[in-house]
Amino acid sequence: MTDGRAAGGGGARSAEVALDSSVPPRPGEPGESGEPGGSPRRSRMRRGRPAGRGGRGPVTAVAFGPGRVNLVGEHTDYNDGLCLPFAIELGVTVRARPSLDGLMRVHAVDIGAHDVFPTPVPPRVEGWRSFARGVVALLTAAGYSIHPARLAITGTLPRGAGLSSSAALEVALALALLAHSGHGEPDRRQLAGLLSRVENEWVGARTGLLDQTASLFGRPGHALCLDVRALGAAPAPGQAPSGTAAAAGAEPAATGIEPVRLDLGRWRLVTVDSGVRHAIAASGYNTRRAECARACELLGIGSLRDADEDAPGRLPEPLGRRVRHVLTENERVRLAVAALRAGDLPELGRVLDASHASLRDLYDVSVPEVEATVARVRALGAAGARMVGGGFGGSVLALFPPGRRLPAEAMRVAPGGPGRLLPR
Ligand code: GLA
Repeated sequence: MTDGRAAGGGGARSAEVALDSSVPPRPGEPGESGEPGGSPRRSRMRRGRPAGRGGRGPVTAVAFGPGRVNLVGEHTDYNDGLCLPFAIELGVTVRARPSLDGLMRVHAVDIGAHDVFPTPVPPRVEGWRSFARGVVALLTAAGYSIHPARLAITGTLPRGAGLSSSAALEVALALALLAHSGHGEPDRRQLAGLLSRVENEWVGARTGLLDQTASLFGRPGHALCLDVRALGAAPAPGQAPSGTAAAAGAEPAATGIEPVRLDLGRWRLVTVDSGVRHAIAASGYNTRRAECARACELLGIGSLRDADEDAPGRLPEPLGRRVRHVLTENERVRLAVAALRAGDLPELGRVLDASHASLRDLYDVSVPEVEATVARVRALGAAGARMVGGGFGGSVLALFPPGRRLPAEAMRVAPGGPGRLLPR
């Protein structure tokens, strides 16, 4: 467990423990936190399993939260930088029914585990149970009254594979609870921030806004170019400063979210699981964040978005390399957007490769199994490949030109819609 996680109060459990069904394994990527909505690794599909079997009372809301793939822009979100994710079609579904005894009752159907807690101020616990408790606590603190519910959670995402099953769970929980409690459509930018705080303050992962924003704003056929600084600064709806594009009407760039058409033609994007569970306890995610904060201190800036290109040379190692990654990764997001707009998929492949090299050599977040997976997909003819998510394991994203044979276990990924309510 890293410092930030312990400080988060959730005291989340490490991947090395908790391999029983009452407390599911903690896959380890920040944001991939042992949540029950994901499916066990290597047997990821649990389709068609009815959520909430045995539950009584009318279903009041059903909500779906998608996982995400990040094309490029890794470890930039908490540095006020750029990312290029898309929501995928796999995710987590939460089904709500009234709870008549005033308690919140949560059933993680796929792992056969339960949680029961009082509202509106749930006590803190460790592991997957901190997600629903954190969502209830922070929605309540934000002024929403949340009615007691019986919640059934099911999922189709592989857990700990870097596809952000935890953000998918948070989004599904929040949308289900809000609808169950009679609230209308929330301000999604605010909700993304609130759910990111669930990770920070309840689960103990000091993650940024990437995953929740991708899950809440997914758009079929599109990746989302996120400018996290603009996301944080964008005015709330109805408060757009006059004279700006936002005032003129929902200009995506002004809100920090710009859809970019992801037109692959006959090319294919796939993820291949490296087989390494993200061991968050042992991972350096929170350490990387602390290094970036230290670099800012030494440079006298508030965020690495303000670092100039000479900044790495003024820093001791490894901080110089960390900053060099962040600066060049922001640039790679710009290059990827340009490549997509130009329909230049070989260039997109080169950007993926360069991102991987930087994550491996400058940010030091690769592991041998991820390297072996990257080498394997390249040998099969991928035009580009890189680790996806926080690193230290998880999946590799690969871009294949037409006519190439895909690895047997490859999972095709394509941009799907946002987190949403489903018919009851
Ligand atoms: C995890 C976190 C994100 C982001 C990525 C790295 O997925 O949840 O906030 O920092 O790692 O890009």
